[in-house]
Amino acid sequence: MVEIPKEYQAGFVYFLGQRIDLSKKPLIPRPETEYWADIAIKDIANTKNSIIECLDIFSGSGCIGISLLAKVDDIQCDLAEKEDAFLEQIRINIGVNNLTEKRFSIIKTDIFSEITKKYDYILANPPYVAENRIDEVGEDVLAHEPRVALFSGSDGMDIIRTFLVQARNHLKENGVIYLEFDQEQKEEIGDILEQNGYSDWKFFNDQFGLIRFVRINK
Ligand SMILES: C[S@@+](CC[C@H](N)C(=O)[O-])C[C@H]1O[C@@H](n2cnc3c(N)ncnc32)[C@H](O)[C@@H]1O
Repeated sequence: MVEIPKEYQAGFVYFLGQRIDLSKKPLIPRPETEYWADIAIKDIANTKNSIIECLDIFSGSGCIGISLLAKVDDIQCDLAEKEDAFLEQIRINIGVNNLTEKRFSIIKTDIFSEITKKYDYILANPPYVAENRIDEVGEDVLAHEPRVALFSGSDGMDIIRTFLVQARNHLKENGVIYLEFDQEQKEEIGDILEQNGYSDWKFFNDQFGLIRFVRINK
C-alpha cells in the first residue's frame, strides 16, 4: 500500500497564505505553481485597468484564482474546471476564504467550450504530464492523485495544444496568459504561439531552475 500523501491526510494546504481545503481530492497544489502564481498576481495587482477580468482555467482546488481574489481588491476572476468533484471543491474553498459572490463565476467547461467572455489575464495550469513518461511519476502520486489532473496524451501536450489555439480568442486587446508546462514542451509551445499569431512571449524558470512557465501577450 502506498501511503496517502500528508496533504490529503491533513485535509488542506496553504497556498500563498490562503487555506485550501483538499477534501474532494483535487491535485495537491505544487510549490512550482505557487512560485509563478505569486509573480502573476503581483503583475495583475500592478495593472492599472479600472476593472481587471481574469480566468483561472483548469482550476482544480481553485488555489490560483482564490489567491488572486483574496489578494487583489476590485478584480474579477472566474474559475473554470471540468470535473464535478473539483467544481464542488472550488465552492468549498471560496467559502473557506470568505470571498464575495459578486467577484467570480464558477464555470463547468471542457477547456473553453463554455467560456463566453474575453479576459485581461488567463492563468492556466493544465494537465501536462506525458503518458510516455509515466515511469517518472512518483508511486504516491499515481496511487492517490487524480489522473485527469496529470496526464494529457502521450507527450502531455493534448490539452495545451487546444488551449493555445483557442485562448487568443478569449483575451482582450492587451490580454496576457500565464501557462505552466514541462520543460520538454518549450519548443513546441513556442511553435504553436508563432503559428497562432501571438505577438510576444517569454519563458521563465521555476525556483528549482527548470523552465516551467510562459507569459504570453495576445
Ligand atoms: C494540473 S491540475 C491544476 C489544478 C490547480 N489549478 C493547481 O494548479 O493546483 C489540472 C486541472 O484541470 C482539470 N481538467 C482536466 N481536463 C480538463 C478539461 N478538458 N477542461 C477543463 N479542465 C480540465 C483537472 O480536473 C484538474 O483539476
